[in-house]
Amino acid sequence: MAARHFLTLSDMTTAELEDVLDHASRLRKEWRNGQTRDTLKNRVLAMIFEKSSTRTRVSFEAGMTQLGGTAMFLSSRDTQLGRGEPVEDSAIVISSMVDAVMIRTFGHDTVERFAAASSKPVINALTDDYHPCQLMADMQTYRELRGSIKGATVAWIGDGNNMCHSYMNAAEKFGFHLNIACPEGYEPSSQLMEQHAERITLVRTPEEAARGANLLATDVWASMGQEDEQKAREKAFSSYQINPALMTLADNDALFLHCLPAHRGEEVSADMMEHPASAVWHAAENRLHAQKALLEFLILNRLD
Ligand code: CP
Ligand code: NVA
Repeated sequence: MAARHFLTLSDMTTAELEDVLDHASRLRKEWRNGQTRDTLKNRVLAMIFEKSSTRTRVSFEAGMTQLGGTAMFLSSRDTQLGRGEPVEDSAIVISSMVDAVMIRTFGHDTVERFAAASSKPVINALTDDYHPCQLMADMQTYRELRGSIKGATVAWIGDGNNMCHSYMNAAEKFGFHLNIACPEGYEPSSQLMEQHAERITLVRTPEEAARGANLLATDVWASMGQEDEQKAREKAFSSYQINPALMTLADNDALFLHCLPAHRGEEVSADMMEHPASAVWHAAENRLHAQKALLEFLILNRLD
């Protein structure tokens, strides 16, 4: 049987995503009650990082250990991948030795090529185009704190980047409407805009996007790999900040999410992080639980 991969949210059906999130919430409770499980005993996850990470590395590595398995950190700086060994050759070899592979890299085509040659499940842990693991944690958080997101309105304020793209996929999968507010020249992929046209409204001001929304989300103005654009982006995005004043336009029960790391004073005001609507720390912890559920789903083909 061909391995199941998780390169974008589109790799799973809505029912599968909901099942994984239900399981993630169970795992969250177990973890908080001090219960342990060994469903992935003797299983190994290879983690390939070509970009920096705190949450992703810690959550996958801790998650595998908590399920009885192990995780192996592979940096492109000291594997043959960094010296030009073809992605496909690396995929054949690595997947012959482990039970799943997680990759954080630049071009999305790299994870697609790796997955095509891999005999084991491949998980996208962020590419320039998508960050589906973060969306699993964000969706888990919303449903734990507010219930189903179906029919809700989500406001994405800021760059039309990898996180925005995954929110666009999530709008389709989870049945919410997405208002995207971004400056000209920083829109999300036009192909995704067309694909999800009925679920998305593109506006130019944060206020238009935030009005009546149930969830406000944002991300840094310059993503990893765009460090040279920081100054130009600071100018273009200067009015695209989520702060308590913007939150007053949203629904009274609206939540605020940010995948982190956050740049206080840029895309988010310092006081927004601890605002009563902020669920950023809850969502950060949920990276652990959502990915443990995802690992069980992909490696065992079932949720125990
Ligand atoms: N949100 C997120 O993916 O964080 P890291 O870059 O620290 O992994
Ligand atoms: N858009 C950000 C997300 C970091 C988790 C980046 O790609 O750097």
